Amino acid sequence: MSKKKTAAIVLAAGLGTRMKSKLPKVMHPVAGHPMVNHLLDTLGRMHVDRVVVVIGPDMPELEAAVAPHPTVVQHERLGTGHAVRVGLDALGPFKGDVLVLYGDTPLITERTLNAMLEAREPVEGRPAPAVVVLGFTPEDPAAYGRLVVDEEDGELLAIVEFNDASPEERAIDLCNSGVMCFDGGLVEQLVARIGNDNAKGEYYLTDAVHLAREDGFACAAVEGDEEELIGVNSRAELAMVETLIQDRLREKAMKNGCTLIDPSTVYFSYDTKIGKDVVVEPGVFFGPGVTVKDDVTIKAYSHIEGAVVKSGAVVGPYARLRPGADIGKDARVGNFVEIKNAEVEDGAKVNHLTYIGDATVGAKANVGAGTITCNYDGFLKSRTVIGRGAFIGSNTALVAPVSIGDGAIVGAGSTITRDVDENAIVTTRAEQKQARGAAESYRERKRAEKEKRQKG
Ligand code: UD1
Ligand code: CA
Repeated sequence: MSKKKTAAIVLAAGLGTRMKSKLPKVMHPVAGHPMVNHLLDTLGRMHVDRVVVVIGPDMPELEAAVAPHPTVVQHERLGTGHAVRVGLDALGPFKGDVLVLYGDTPLITERTLNAMLEAREPVEGRPAPAVVVLGFTPEDPAAYGRLVVDEEDGELLAIVEFNDASPEERAIDLCNSGVMCFDGGLVEQLVARIGNDNAKGEYYLTDAVHLAREDGFACAAVEGDEEELIGVNSRAELAMVETLIQDRLREKAMKNGCTLIDPSTVYFSYDTKIGKDVVVEPGVFFGPGVTVKDDVTIKAYSHIEGAVVKSGAVVGPYARLRPGADIGKDARVGNFVEIKNAEVEDGAKVNHLTYIGDATVGAKANVGAGTITCNYDGFLKSRTVIGRGAFIGSNTALVAPVSIGDGAIVGAGSTITRDVDENAIVTTRAEQKQARGAAESYRERKRAEKEKRQKG
């Protein structure tokens, strides 16, 4: 691999009118992460030395999302050539390769970008091309710019915008993806000379190819995969990109030793970490910030975000783990259980119909069906601590702040408002009374009443 330095200019000034959204287009999340950040993560994995993001006016949320990478504002959208000029002003003189990328094309891979950087190297005594353009052969070439390539030596001769193309040029099926790689020593003077005398009156970055050739420099094209080059202009395209990213994440999970019974029904976030010998049943959704350790089973239809699930634990079916849920080794979290900001320590069981919020459930404790931690009084949140090995009977309300000692037993149906000592047995429900035969005399009385009413 080359030891040359690499910079990237990411164009992201577009408003994305067709998204019909308050959010700048590239901020729309894919797998729980703004699409522009997927691109920046790819550049990060490639150890790109410098990145500048060209944004539009009034996009503070975008500026924050791409930090610490610097942004520069393109005040008027005068075309891709103009946007790159704005980016170069912020980058300053740069010796090495300068990649131009698009914030709304987040699927491009490291492999493809490395192929472009490689194409910038001189081969067989021929000088290195000044500009490398990423082309692709879409199923429908539509209104993409066309790459005109020399049939003899494969050199890239020109990029012709669709609006300016002749019928012969429109018949070419190799299209411009927009992604380019420039010689950092030449890019500034090439881009400075781009004019706007064309069908749209815009500064076309694509003109850099014919300007470089005018100066006697070679240009080259590298062909990429259409799927990687899908640009997002609408919500429908956003959904297509989501599907493709989900497929990549599913593949990665399986490659790392996770079984997905029905992969297409499981949704991951960009940062989901899954261990080995994990089984994920159908219909599971992972929001951002989830770590699942080895030998865990996540049963069907569970929703998990911001949570850690330690080895051997079983979660679900129909469980909800919210941010701050920390499920210990071999613990059990069963159906219709919600856990938020709480540790369920090793071997503890919370199996049915329960809410555990702002709490600790001690190791090997058993929390009965329908138990609720009353963590919120309408103003403040308070914590509940359940000791190790404690047993909480079904349908118990634990009114926080409250703590249950290690090994204590709470009788079913209790409402616990004061701390319980370790190894104590506590119940708070009313005494049970019984009236022998009372049911029969009650029914007789009621039958008589009913008869009287029907007659009268
Ligand atoms: C561009 C290419 C075309 C290629 C197509 C691929 C040019 C002149 N044409 O056309 O050959 O086939 O992409 O999708 O480059 N942008 C800015 N500031 C601007 C203009 C654009 O940041 O002033 C950004 C946009 O947000 C967008 C990207 O650059 O993400 C592409 O711009 P767009 O206007 O969509 O170019 P196309 O006409 O699609
Ligand atoms: Ca476009």
